[in-house]
Amino acid sequence: MSEKVLHPIDNGLRGNLQVPGDKSISHRAIIFGSIAKGKTTVTHFLDGEDCMRTIAAFQAMGVEINKNGQTVEIYGNGINALKEPVVPINLGNSGTTARLLLGILAGLPHHFTLYGDESLSKRPMDRVAIPLRQMGATIDGRDNGTYLPLAVRGAKLTSITFETPVKSAQVKSGVLLAGLLAKGTTEVVEKTTTRDHTENMLKAFGGHITSDTGTISIQGEQELQGTSIHVPGDISSAAFFLVAAAITEGSSVTVEDVGLNPTRTGIIDVLKQMNIDITVVEERTIGGEPVGSITVNASTPKPIVIDGEIIPRIIDEIPIIALLATQANGKTIIRDAEELRYKETDRIASVVQTLQALGANIEATNDGMVIYGNDTLTGAEVDSYGDHRIGMMIAIASLITKNSITLKNPDCIAVSYPSFFNDLDKILDK
Ligand code: S3P
Repeated sequence: MSEKVLHPIDNGLRGNLQVPGDKSISHRAIIFGSIAKGKTTVTHFLDGEDCMRTIAAFQAMGVEINKNGQTVEIYGNGINALKEPVVPINLGNSGTTARLLLGILAGLPHHFTLYGDESLSKRPMDRVAIPLRQMGATIDGRDNGTYLPLAVRGAKLTSITFETPVKSAQVKSGVLLAGLLAKGTTEVVEKTTTRDHTENMLKAFGGHITSDTGTISIQGEQELQGTSIHVPGDISSAAFFLVAAAITEGSSVTVEDVGLNPTRTGIIDVLKQMNIDITVVEERTIGGEPVGSITVNASTPKPIVIDGEIIPRIIDEIPIIALLATQANGKTIIRDAEELRYKETDRIASVVQTLQALGANIEATNDGMVIYGNDTLTGAEVDSYGDHRIGMMIAIASLITKNSITLKNPDCIAVSYPSFFNDLDKILDK
């Protein structure tokens, strides 16, 4: 098993950097490019392991996809041209590939077998399989079709109105994508708004979708046209450097060209509420998504309560927010975040155990955590548990620990951010 020794820094972090393309948008660009007709060109694509799984899945279904660095060309022939893959599809660690792909496979007249790594095999797939079965697909797997490996037999689908019980954009997107192959109008009703990249991307490919007070409606049997997509920087990756700048004395860091879709910018709101010196300059709109630069200067964080509607807007940022809260001068409470238990790891458990091992005073609750603050973090040997965001949280923590940290299993960071350590190195004030 690989490990990496990480040392605290003497000076702060300084400079400008750009982070890789947004993971959610990169997945969707491949999906829509593969089911549209004509050529799609994707630039600033995230070539992390998760998005490569989405490319491989569509290649296995006969789509020609050529990747050259961060530029991907897709030659789609329409959704009905997707072929039955000869071998099972390996989804690796990627929950987004799994849930969104299921939506497409459900409506195709083929048989598919899907499997993933150990972490993905523990994550619930019934949250999307249940509505897809209601629409007419046959989906079976371990534990009554709850977990991978799954066997999918697609069918002619009928549209449904689905009130989603979980705050999940993956579930919403899986059902909406199935709606493309269903007769009539499929509706997803969500109580709390989740990221809307599927809706935006569908429009960019010439499709029609409406959203009205929590009900998203999509008509079936639409034809999509290939297009060009430029993927903005991933705010979920930028978040690690924004917090790094906040907690390291003397720092000032600007992350440029970051996606500022309002369903994703909860981290900016949290940083402001915690009194972090942060400036956002919105520069332009690219492919229907606002993009801008974010600057953070070192600051003392104020403890706050984080709950309710903001949770889906920070769901992937909670590990790094928890680290920030260890440096606040008082108690921070995170609630309503039970969805964290269904991520690459149970992130309530993995965040709390890791920060405790580093000397923080933090407790898990059923739906979040309580972080008491005022912590001086010590060094330790800690494990990413194979979860990329836990690995990056540990790497940022190591900047301020008293001694060095040995991070076991750092390689998983490549799932969403292969150049993470290089980029961190660029802003170290040497
Ligand atoms: C994602 C949605 C979120 C997020 C994940 C990517 C997406 O998951 O945690 O990293 O691209 O739709 P849920 O929708 O399951 O909350």
